[in-house]
Amino acid sequence: MIPKEMRWEITSKCNLKCKHCIVEHVKNEDLDLEANKTIVDKLKKNGVMEILFTSKEPFAYNGFLDLIRYCSINDIYVSIITNGTLIDDEAIKYLYRQKIKFIAISLDGWTSSSNDFIRGTGTFEKIVRTIEKLCLENKVQKNTYIPIYIQNLLTNQNTDEIDAMFELLDKYPDVQVSIGQITESGNASNHKECIVDQSKFRKAKQEIMTRNKQLRRRIFFKDESYFEGVWFNYLNGRSFKAEPPKCSIDENYYTLLPNGDMCKCIMLKDVEEKVAYEAVFGNILNENIYPNYNFDFDRSYKNVGRCKDCRVVKACNLCYIVSKSENKMDEQRALCDYYEKKINLEVDNLLKQNLRVNINKNVIVKNEKLFLQKDDHSIVPVDCCEKVATKLKEMMSLKDENIKLNELDYSFQTVEEMIYQNLIFKVE
Ligand SMILES: C[S@@+](CC[C@H](N)C(=O)[O-])C[C@H]1O[C@@H](n2cnc3c(N)ncnc32)[C@H](O)[C@@H]1O
Ligand code: SF4
Ligand code: SF4
Repeated sequence: MIPKEMRWEITSKCNLKCKHCIVEHVKNEDLDLEANKTIVDKLKKNGVMEILFTSKEPFAYNGFLDLIRYCSINDIYVSIITNGTLIDDEAIKYLYRQKIKFIAISLDGWTSSSNDFIRGTGTFEKIVRTIEKLCLENKVQKNTYIPIYIQNLLTNQNTDEIDAMFELLDKYPDVQVSIGQITESGNASNHKECIVDQSKFRKAKQEIMTRNKQLRRRIFFKDESYFEGVWFNYLNGRSFKAEPPKCSIDENYYTLLPNGDMCKCIMLKDVEEKVAYEAVFGNILNENIYPNYNFDFDRSYKNVGRCKDCRVVKACNLCYIVSKSENKMDEQRALCDYYEKKINLEVDNLLKQNLRVNINKNVIVKNEKLFLQKDDHSIVPVDCCEKVATKLKEMMSLKDENIKLNELDYSFQTVEEMIYQNLIFKVE
């Protein structure tokens, strides 16, 4: 079965030589525009509705704008991750006439010294100029809006630039930010001086989240452990809910390489240990339909240590490479343990205090039943106990956003269930 969304590493070309580049080893021949249009036809025929274009640098691919146009006329939405240095004014105007879901622009520091240390001299200025032009275009355009992300990695060079970060973000209030950390792979293995240690990373993360509490900018951290995500959402005044980690090997998700080769994830090429899979399992140009490949990935981490009894073990699909490293798994489990204990203590406190909690605006009552509207606008029935349902309906009909937990005889599990189902929010 072909997925609805496809990740496409479109080219082996890039105009930069970043110190941390994870894909510097990708050396496949690029296909020409006609061959890639044939691939788009094939994807369209098989139901693909979205393509994410990424490495190396999509705008370095000869004919990239034409390819985007071809996707658009085929009703396929395009998202792009780019280094932002090759998008000229003409390209910007062109992009606004296509079906673009979002553009993520990498910026690995909040000053020219830290960013350029990783990405090369003069890149900070070029990247920020592109962000500025896109933000301006979003204002000028009457009928089209392209969501813009800054894709940032915390590095040894930029963790103390939090003032500079918020100063820059103040200028572009609509820009969303996703923050991650460098994986020690590809060129990053030769530049360990850029990689922050975990304690420094967490300190910076805590500071960013705390500073952002009032500002409520859309800042996301990538690759966090589930319970850590829950805790930081709570700290940020949102709900306790978080997305469990995902890995493309557990999903119906494929990556296309520049020569049309298909693999589950480009990163798997770097895994040296013996595993029962092939990183590349076919070439899209040679296949009529997707091969029903029998992947046999070892997910036995789920049967070890605290994972065995973890409430989200079914949904938790950690990065395969992380799951194969004993050290990294010890670290993950310790994090889950630490943050779950913090959460449980907090739920205990919620039960004892007269805390106000805000009802989630996405709860809908229809025919006496409760439904939750998810971010993708789908509506799912909520399965909670009768007592909670009655209280929620009552609160909603009175437009009362206060719930005094200690006055109602709720059990720990019931409150936890409400919190995890995103039914209640914390209010300061
Ligand atoms: C591989 S690049 C491809 C797209 C484009 N050339 C760019 O730099 O944005 C996609 C993203 O991966 C990030 N990246 C590169 N090397 C990485 C590493 N070792 N660990 C984590 N992220 C990395 C980049 O910073 C970028 O945001
Ligand atoms: S991270 Fe992106 S811009 Fe930097 S060298 Fe790699 S592919 Fe090029
Ligand atoms: S304890 Fe294990 S299964 Fe549960 S969230 Fe953490 S890593 Fe995933």
